[in-house]
Amino acid sequence: MNIENYLSEQKLRIDQALSKYLKANSDCPPGLYKAMQYSLEAGGKRIRPILALAAAQAVGGSLEPVLPVACALEMIHTFSLIHDDLPSMDNDDLRRGVPTNHKVFGEAMAVLAGDGLLSEAFHLLCHADVSRQIPPATLIDVIRDIAFATGPGGMVGGQALDLEAEGKNLNAKDLETVHRYKTGRLITISVTSGAKIAGASSSQQELLKVYGEKIGLAFQIADDILNVEGTKEAMGKSVGSDQTNQKSTYPKVLGMEASKKMAKELIDQATLLLKDFGAPADPLCEIAQYIVLRKN
Ligand code: IPE
Ligand code: IPE
Ligand code: MG
Ligand code: MG
Repeated sequence: MNIENYLSEQKLRIDQALSKYLKANSDCPPGLYKAMQYSLEAGGKRIRPILALAAAQAVGGSLEPVLPVACALEMIHTFSLIHDDLPSMDNDDLRRGVPTNHKVFGEAMAVLAGDGLLSEAFHLLCHADVSRQIPPATLIDVIRDIAFATGPGGMVGGQALDLEAEGKNLNAKDLETVHRYKTGRLITISVTSGAKIAGASSSQQELLKVYGEKIGLAFQIADDILNVEGTKEAMGKSVGSDQTNQKSTYPKVLGMEASKKMAKELIDQATLLLKDFGAPADPLCEIAQYIVLRKN
């Protein structure tokens, strides 16, 4: 399979569905809507929603019921980026190739745009399009998992740990915890939600959870590496900022070569877990490789 084509086809599908679901809330004040739409439609790789679809494909299930859930995951991720870029957090001016939300709409509106996307994601998870297609017990399970991976036990908790780690010399174990929380859990849940909705068996769910944990950690290691070796043009965000912000990162804690080696090992281990899924898991295998080979 050609991974570039696969990713761009799936991205198009997600982009179209995202615009549709965002528009569905006609009660949103226009100024807030503009700010939410700005960051959501600025682009982005859409890797989390694509993983949800690819996981459903890997277990031979239908992609249709996964699509709104995949969109909710992208709304949550976009919220996390808007808040991550705020002056009180990473203080970044560029995201997805355009000025950050607070640079365009001001800090207060950027906070609200993030809040709006987060709550809209859970609103979407309870949308009739979703509850019509997913059995109630499975849906409640998925919503609970997504809430956990987003909140204090996941991304939000990881962001807190990331801020507390600024200016400190974390050891490798503590750094791994930060990365697993701030990035790993939302990526893992993207994989397992797609699989669960598509009817994965419990042993398939267990394998895909470990796959998600490994690629999720590798994804943030790759992000740390790209902050040193990537270019602003390719990334659509500033590089070198981790050093300026005295962040704890893999290149800083392990060194560049060991970081690359660890990311590659995680990807190899993740790919091995997919062995018994056969050809339907090809996209998940290719996405794993892409995570460490990407330039943005
Ligand atoms: C950036 O995520 C933040 C991290 C968790 C590393 P992505 O690299 O998925 O950003 P977009 O969605 O493509 O902009
Ligand atoms: C972002 O981590 C993790 C989030 C939960 C948003 P970073 O702060 O390292 O990501 P970038 O480099 O700004 O995208
Ligand atoms: Mg950050
Ligand atoms: Mg950041």
